[in-house]
Amino acid sequence: MKKVMVTGGAGFIGSAVVRQFIEETDVHVVNVDKLTYSGNLESLKSVSECDRYAFERADICDRGAMDAIFERHRPDAIMHLAAESHVDRSISGPAEFISTNIQGTYTLLESARKYADSLGGEQKANFRFHHIATDEVYGSLGDEGFFTEETAYRPNSPYSASKAASDHLVRAWHHTYGLPVVTTNCSNNYGPYHFPEKLIPLMILNATNGKPLPVYGKGDNIRDWLYVEDHARALRLVLEKGKVGETYNIGGNNEKTNLEVVETICAILDELLPEAAPHGRLVSFVKDRPGHDFRYAIDASKICDELGWKPLETFESGIRKTVQWYLENRDWVEHVTSGEYRNWIDRQYGGNP
Ligand code: NAD
Ligand code: TYD
Repeated sequence: MKKVMVTGGAGFIGSAVVRQFIEETDVHVVNVDKLTYSGNLESLKSVSECDRYAFERADICDRGAMDAIFERHRPDAIMHLAAESHVDRSISGPAEFISTNIQGTYTLLESARKYADSLGGEQKANFRFHHIATDEVYGSLGDEGFFTEETAYRPNSPYSASKAASDHLVRAWHHTYGLPVVTTNCSNNYGPYHFPEKLIPLMILNATNGKPLPVYGKGDNIRDWLYVEDHARALRLVLEKGKVGETYNIGGNNEKTNLEVVETICAILDELLPEAAPHGRLVSFVKDRPGHDFRYAIDASKICDELGWKPLETFESGIRKTVQWYLENRDWVEHVTSGEYRNWIDRQYGGNP
């Protein structure tokens, strides 16, 4: 792979993928991103001056723009991460999820198919469409069991339903048109540059600002946490070595209840900012999310056994790095917490407490 097109490269996971490609390989990257509220080019400051990096501001729903970008850059592969990604937003306003996640993926598939058909020789044989999916498409687990690549799809939220639809489109474009696809379904990510609407960054920022920590329900829902750099490494590995038409589950084997996550963050902050301890006094149990999935847990043995992937961070090491990063990167936080995001927070939580 000499040149990879990454959609959603200004987002949380996409920016980690782009930074890794530029910093750790000699691959050229074309970042295609609409820059919605969650896209932030400041996450790419360390690589944006590199001559192997190019940025195209475009909407994946715009067929003309996608065709033109494929023609202009002629990539060897595409990694598709652009999406609306927040479950709570999908509940209060599903329209953008249907448009970007379903219509956008369809548009990109058609554009990629046209482009792939135009290729010849080795470039055609090696072209890949890598679709980045979520474990939330499998629905909710009880106390036992794990999601495998064979688990039936049972999406419960507008977000997971829209992502499931996109996964099915990708599968169909492979089976019907022969588009060479690989798909990865990953568990919850956390780490630096995570937009502070999701559990972990929201709790870190609220706690450092002395604001309530809104835990949904009793805080006993379970998520399987993966450090974002480990996910990005897994994605690069699947792009390079994954078998066409196959799906790989990616997870960190780090199941925690939400309350455990919040308590861990508070304990680290008590250590780093002892003057404000105990941060745990800020925990506030609030109304549960409608249709809240109880537990997600991934069986990642396929990617580990077949491709040799394993995560480098434990939850303990990754969460400490993450808390420290947010304390040391106040500018990034300041910029993303202004504007549109603030309006949404006000609508969601009724303004500052
Ligand atoms: P994110 O919200 O941080 O980033 C999404 C990016 O997509 C942003 O840069 C945004 O500007 C861009 N985007 C949105 N709509 C677009 C459009 N119409 N055209 C072009 N760009 C657009 O999301 P993330 O957490 O980085 O997730 C990336 C992908 O990984 C998503 O497909 C998500 O479903 C999947 N995923 C996320 C997680 C997680 O825990 N965050 C876990 C598994 C899978
Ligand atoms: P989130 O980060 O939104 O990811 P997802 O819903 O995709 O798993 O939420 C993670 C868990 O944390 C989920 O069970 C909902 C819960 N949660 C809270 O308890 N309070 C919050 O303020 C948020 C954003 C999430």
